[in-house]
Amino acid sequence: MKGRLDKVLATCTLISRTDAQAALKAGRVTVDGVPVRDGKGKVDSDAQVILLDGKRVEGDGFVYVMLYKPVGVLSATEDKKGAVTAMDLLPEEYRKAAPGVVGRLDKDAEGLLLLTNNGDLNHRLTSPKHHADKLYRVTLDIPATEADVAAFAAPMDLGDFTTQPGRLELVEDGKTALVTIHEGKFHQIKRMFQHQGKTVQALKRLSIGPLVLDEMLAPGDWRPLTGGEIREILQAADMM
Ligand code: URA
Repeated sequence: MKGRLDKVLATCTLISRTDAQAALKAGRVTVDGVPVRDGKGKVDSDAQVILLDGKRVEGDGFVYVMLYKPVGVLSATEDKKGAVTAMDLLPEEYRKAAPGVVGRLDKDAEGLLLLTNNGDLNHRLTSPKHHADKLYRVTLDIPATEADVAAFAAPMDLGDFTTQPGRLELVEDGKTALVTIHEGKFHQIKRMFQHQGKTVQALKRLSIGPLVLDEMLAPGDWRPLTGGEIREILQAADMM
């Protein structure tokens, strides 16, 4: 991994940026045998030997990216018909790492999309066994009611499958609501509201497990996960 030394330390070892800076200040880091106390300099963990407390600091080869998927973009890595996909929004260096999309998001939905080439993590976050909670904000044609809140909290029979209990929170007049679900079946939230006689007009994913969409990102923007975010999501998937 290339970048500022403090960032490389935090990302590769999954310690926080503050802890990385403290380790630097304390003289616990060397680059090619030379103690370095300033985290601002650029390094390359493949080409240089970076040691923290005498242990080599190396990238694990995995990339983890959060993307604010805009409406109209497919949550896929390629499309035979040439539609714009999430992958098209990433720079070449990330595309080369061949990340997969963790959990689909409809074309007309927006919000948090996690892309990673850590296949084990992807599998765990989307498998019903680990079921990371996903939080969405919805806009409805007519206000949701307390009856809908109760219906979302119970298993809901949608014909071809029955949902696990979720959570619906009404915002203001109920035309806006927050929904938490554990699974991610095709069109699940739209179908749950349809079952309640309401239509979802807009859908935005705000979080996946502990990973929250960065408010600084505009639609179409992306950024790598921080070391702390990677640690939290690996912990949520029982991988740490
Ligand atoms: N539920 C939906 O209906 N669509 C999504 O994209 C995600 C959850």
